[in-house]
Amino acid sequence: MTNDSPLKAIVVVTLTALLCSILVTTSVIQLQPIQHAYKDLERNRFLVEVSGLTNNAAALSDRDVIGLFQKLDARIINLDTGAFDFVHNPDTFDSSEAAADLALSVAIPANLDIAKLNRRSRFITIFLVKDDSELKRMVLPIYGQGMWSKLYGFIALESDLNTIADVTFYEQAETAGIGDQILNPDWHALWRGRRLYDDAGTVRFDISHVRVNPSSPNDRFHVDAISGATVTTDAVSNMVNYWFGPHGYGPFFESYRRLDYR
Ligand SMILES: Cc1cc2nc3c(=O)[nH]c(=O)nc-3n(C[C@H](O)[C@H](O)[C@H](O)COP(=O)(O)O)c2cc1C
Repeated sequence: MTNDSPLKAIVVVTLTALLCSILVTTSVIQLQPIQHAYKDLERNRFLVEVSGLTNNAAALSDRDVIGLFQKLDARIINLDTGAFDFVHNPDTFDSSEAAADLALSVAIPANLDIAKLNRRSRFITIFLVKDDSELKRMVLPIYGQGMWSKLYGFIALESDLNTIADVTFYEQAETAGIGDQILNPDWHALWRGRRLYDDAGTVRFDISHVRVNPSSPNDRFHVDAISGATVTTDAVSNMVNYWFGPHGYGPFFESYRRLDYR
């Protein structure tokens, strides 16, 4: 083939394109575990802060985040039975992946699916924060559909498993300046000390559109909504009600309290 042969040009272009696509695919596959590890690290940065192990996780080195994360007692719970699960490994189990696996997940009945998830994993990883053997906080994942995106967060409860110690959101893609205000630490501060359950064990938490009086006992379950972001904050309220209700952590709390299982 001569250099000015059209066939040669086609062959060279095809081979170059093939080589490039192999290089890109290989590097994407090879980088995937690193990207996952980085994503986990960033999530754990939020997790150690909401756990109360630091109050400035953003300033910590990656190594310090890993060190604090290792102090948490990660447990998998079976959401259907409410019992701890010892079959899956909390270090590797991924409840988002499990939610897409028919064997590991359940469909959420439409009348209960206020977080708009369709399915959820039957197992989920929670985190116990302990001082010696005494439970200080329990950190539980919450997630659900916002206005434009899935919202992922954690709620930390005091050892009474009712009072909110802290809240955080570590993944969302709501509108900047509107729905993404759920990331605002000033808003998170309004959650602290609020309660989830009334004396009968019913979830009463609500993100309120009427101004909350934090010192009023009537408002002990209420957090102010974010003005202009009703859709996202209503979604957050629904997520909390789903996850702490009878199809979420309800059975787990019941058995945890009954067995006083630490
Ligand atoms: C382009 C655009 C993006 C918006 N993004 C959000 C959002 O991310 N979250 C949200 O709650 N509302 C968002 N809104 C506003 C909602 O449509 C709705 O007006 C608002 O949630 C009502 O809140 P309010 O009752 O406090 O006024 C957006 C509106 C527009 C026009």
